Amino acid sequence: MAHDLIPCETRADDTASSAMAGAVVIVCTTCRARTVDEDGSTRYGERVGPAVSERLCTALRDQGLAPSVAVTGAACMAGCGRPCAIAIQAPGKAGYLFGSIETDEEISAIATFAGQYLELADGWCSSLQRPEALKGKTLARLPAPVVAFPLSMANAESVE
Ligand code: FES
Repeated sequence: MAHDLIPCETRADDTASSAMAGAVVIVCTTCRARTVDEDGSTRYGERVGPAVSERLCTALRDQGLAPSVAVTGAACMAGCGRPCAIAIQAPGKAGYLFGSIETDEEISAIATFAGQYLELADGWCSSLQRPEALKGKTLARLPAPVVAFPLSMANAESVE
């Protein structure tokens, strides 16, 4: 998977910032602007990720979250029909994938949610707890990764 750090202007060293961040927001670098014609056909235009990342960095900075939330990029997160797709993750926390993040209000809501997310012990929250502008835009909420254990242990437990 391609991972490209998208630098926020406020950071001198993004690698260090990413390592210290409490959460990482991942912006799809390959989502394309989507328009639906009157006949219902869909057209895809230019890539929107770079501009969305820049506006997200601004929103995080404006909300005082830039030191705590890193921004990175990934090529396609399977939300292609809902550009721009944006995910948020942190170790030990539920992860989220949002789609159709386009407007300044929606991008600002992602930043606001990132701030809320930092305060959630396990990352789990309902749609009612998330910013209004993100209603209907959650494509996935995944539980925190479980600690892996050897397959032989799983088999032994299932036999008993
Ligand atoms: S191209 Fe962005 S999710 Fe697939």
